[in-house]
Amino acid sequence: MGITQLYFKMKKGTSKQHHRLILATAIFAVFIVISAVFMFVTEELVLSVWTTIHNLEVHDALRKQNNGVPSSVIPPLNSHPTCLSRSQQYLYRKSSHLSAVPESLRQAWSSYADMQKSCFHGNWTELFLNKHGPASSRPDSCRYLVFIEGREGLGNLLLSLTTAFTFAMATNRTLLIDSRGNVAKLLCEPFPETSWVLPTEFPYNLITDCPRLFSFQHNTTNASCVSLNLQHNITSPDKEFFCEDSFADLKHVTWVAWTSNQYFVTNLLLIPSFWQRMHPMMVEGRFFTYVSSLLLLPENKTWSLIVRQLWSYLSAAELRVGIQVRLHGRKDLAQFEPGVDTKIMDCLLRYGLLPSLSEYENSTEMHRVQSRKMSDGKKPVDILLLLTSLQGKYSQVMRDRFMEMPTESFQTVQVHSVSQLGRQDKGFQQAQLAFVEMWLLSFCDFLATSEYSTFGYIAQGLADLHPYILTLKSSHNPSSCMVGQSSEPCTHYPKVPTCLRKDSALSPAHKDWIRVYLRMCQDQPSGWQLVQPDAGGDAVPMEFL
Ligand SMILES: *[C@@H]1O[C@H](CO)[C@@H](O)[C@H](O)[C@H]1NC(C)=O
Ligand SMILES: *[C@@H]1O[C@H](CO)[C@@H](O)[C@H](O)[C@H]1NC(C)=O
Ligand SMILES: *[C@@H]1O[C@H](CO)[C@@H](O)[C@H](O)[C@H]1NC(C)=O
Ligand SMILES: *[C@@H]1O[C@H](CO)[C@@H](O)[C@H](O)[C@H]1NC(C)=O
Ligand SMILES: *[C@@H]1O[C@H](CO)[C@@H](O)[C@H](O)[C@H]1NC(C)=O
Ligand SMILES: *[C@@H]1O[C@H](CO)[C@@H](O)[C@H](O)[C@H]1NC(C)=O
Ligand SMILES: *[C@@H]1O[C@H](CO)[C@@H](O)[C@H](O)[C@H]1NC(C)=O
Repeated sequence: MGITQLYFKMKKGTSKQHHRLILATAIFAVFIVISAVFMFVTEELVLSVWTTIHNLEVHDALRKQNNGVPSSVIPPLNSHPTCLSRSQQYLYRKSSHLSAVPESLRQAWSSYADMQKSCFHGNWTELFLNKHGPASSRPDSCRYLVFIEGREGLGNLLLSLTTAFTFAMATNRTLLIDSRGNVAKLLCEPFPETSWVLPTEFPYNLITDCPRLFSFQHNTTNASCVSLNLQHNITSPDKEFFCEDSFADLKHVTWVAWTSNQYFVTNLLLIPSFWQRMHPMMVEGRFFTYVSSLLLLPENKTWSLIVRQLWSYLSAAELRVGIQVRLHGRKDLAQFEPGVDTKIMDCLLRYGLLPSLSEYENSTEMHRVQSRKMSDGKKPVDILLLLTSLQGKYSQVMRDRFMEMPTESFQTVQVHSVSQLGRQDKGFQQAQLAFVEMWLLSFCDFLATSEYSTFGYIAQGLADLHPYILTLKSSHNPSSCMVGQSSEPCTHYPKVPTCLRKDSALSPAHKDWIRVYLRMCQDQPSGWQLVQPDAGGDAVPMEFL
């Protein structure tokens, strides 16, 4: 019935109906006003309105949802006003996927934050240029790690940043980041009352021109800075970075530049001192999940994009399934490859994440099932498929399937995608959308991610979910997916330094730990991954163990 029909029908009625009419009109007017407000106000306003309205419910929700998780684990809502995502992220995670940051890491984080604050300097350029100058010009005992942002995709960048942070924490170095790229604009400042962002005019080229690790170690020059290059194709001398000697030598260097595109945390665990300090923070074979919930937080504006998508789409469904499509090694990374959507369907059906499609329509039964669901107070959408890909056709094809055919269980399936950019570039907008998608995927109940994809690693890590790994890297692979052994990122190209080959000085406890917590990756032949103690999988075949 249209609004006009409703109006006339009511007009004919009694005075009681008259009152109803006035009420209906009033509600309608309020609705229009609210819609108008939401259409025209800025993101910040929406967010602040949302924050105020939901403050109370949010506290209740937090308490209810996180039953069993000690309250100290979750920061009180808005206890970090400069970074809303720091506390609000917990609102959208089910308690079953809520991993409390271990006490050891929280303490280390907090003393690291104190150090970061006390080592702050008002003019980083001056401090760096005067590095040989009199000690009085710099805070004593402070040493710095400068994260240089390469031209990598966001997934690789964030993995490199996480590794840099972990190294910085293990060695008590202040982490400073390159402001020329996207990371500084996307992430919250992690530490209160200070800043980790270097100015744009910082002499980045001077610091990347500092001696490399090998020259530093094999030369009589006393370097006050060293430039580390830890790319996937790392060369022999730089591999020695993963040795106790290098680790010790670098202690005396004030400035270290970090250029990388990899997640090397598992590799760093080969260094006895690093392992000694960091392994207590890797409780139950998890580390990335914890550290990402502290470090990889979207700044306010990006967070508001995430929150709006959550309320508009994800919260309307009973179950959320995230799918991330990434085709590696194709000429066009955004191409549509027939067969990929069949593989995805096959995987999701095989593991019961989607109801099967049915040949037969039965609208009567459909109506009955849906009516019962509504009267039980369930959400209208049973399953939301959140599909992320550079290519929009994958979600279109999935959407068409569920439009054209009913499901056997009469469940409703909605397909949503945030973006379909068509190609990859290095701009801010694309990085921001990618970050939004990684976070939205992390709020799903199940994830199917593409093998070898660092984008997927970020999502599964944030979510603490073992993904279903879609085997999309080669179109010739007949299998559709496998069940992931871990939520941690895979170190694609681990390096065994010569120091370990010739003289394995690892302690028995260290070796045992490696045997329990490191496995070969499932989606990259020679990769290493942190796993939970009871995970199956292939042991890391290291001769020094
Ligand atoms: C983030 O948003 C909160 C609440 O609106 C505000 O208090 C805070 O200043 C913002 N942070 C930044 C860095 O702008
Ligand atoms: C920082 O120091 C450099 C070099 O001494 C100087 O050129 C620059 O103007 C200073 N910047 C600020 C913001 O003071
Ligand atoms: C780093 O700082 C912590 C706490 O302040 C201290 O216990 C540790 O020995 C330091 N480690 C290094 C490598 O300097
Ligand atoms: C040692 O340093 C000198 C001068 O800085 C340089 O020319 C030489 O190549 C270095 N040697 C090695 C082995 O890196
Ligand atoms: C290190 O080298 C600088 C010049 O590059 C020199 O001024 C300084 O005295 C040297 N320090 C040591 C301990 O050799
Ligand atoms: C490693 O790969 C990068 C490109 O990803 C290239 O710029 C660099 O020169 C390569 N380094 C080595 C040592 O091959
Ligand atoms: C459709 O479902 C109803 C039960 O809701 C059943 O009585 C009817 O036989 C079904 N029709 C067909 C064609 O299967």
